[in-house]
Amino acid sequence: MDVRETFTMKHAVFFKEIDSTNRLARELAAEGAPEGTVVYAARQTAGRGRLGKSFYSPVGGLYLSVVLRPFLKNEDMLALTAGAAVAVHRALLDFGIRTQMKWVNDLFLGGRKICGILCEGRFSGSVPEFIIAGIGVNLRPDPGLPAELRNIVTDIFTETGLSIGEEELGERILFHLQQVLRELPEREFLPEYSRNSCTIGHRVMVVRNGKNCEGLAVGYAPDAGLIVRLENGSETVIRSGSATVLDGAS
Ligand code: BTN
Repeated sequence: MDVRETFTMKHAVFFKEIDSTNRLARELAAEGAPEGTVVYAARQTAGRGRLGKSFYSPVGGLYLSVVLRPFLKNEDMLALTAGAAVAVHRALLDFGIRTQMKWVNDLFLGGRKICGILCEGRFSGSVPEFIIAGIGVNLRPDPGLPAELRNIVTDIFTETGLSIGEEELGERILFHLQQVLRELPEREFLPEYSRNSCTIGHRVMVVRNGKNCEGLAVGYAPDAGLIVRLENGSETVIRSGSATVLDGAS
């Protein structure tokens, strides 16, 4: 294990290969690792995605998990997750790249996914003891990309011709993550999240009361829940699961 402190936050550990940076960050946090502890890996063999899915993590991507110990409640988790997306969005803007954010925390470029984010917390009652923000960004093309992912994911080099290093992007993400945490109480990042959304204004399929239903995504609630106008004209706020965009990014 090669320990480096070249990033904004201290206590960074870097692995050439690991099963999941979120898994290790969670273990370290449970053992008392301080806020700002970061686990990086050049590739993951068992990267975790949202909703129990796996996250394909070959060489050529940035995979990082950071331990956060913010003062917030369970009901702030969705906004924190959206805020993490804004942090990556802002980090990429620093390199001149404007992404679009799909609710709740995927980033898209050229209509395909370039980043996934998984925020996991351990709670004591309704208060998190710690949160792990796990971020995976596709930087360079992967020659072994499975056929079933080719129309779904892309990478920064393919879309922009820019070669961005893992360390420089990691440093900018951590910088913006700290800023987003400061904005969390007043949700200052929400208008930016909304303006750069590839979900709002689109027809979506969401799961509501255990049933699939279609509607138009019309905006975000203050907690970053997705406001959907249903076929009968009523509006509902979706706070869990995912929204499949029916007429654009999937
Ligand atoms: C998703 O798209 O469903 C979320 C993917 C989150 C992937 C990142 S990569 C770094 C960190 N470690 C993991 O195992 N998952 C997150």
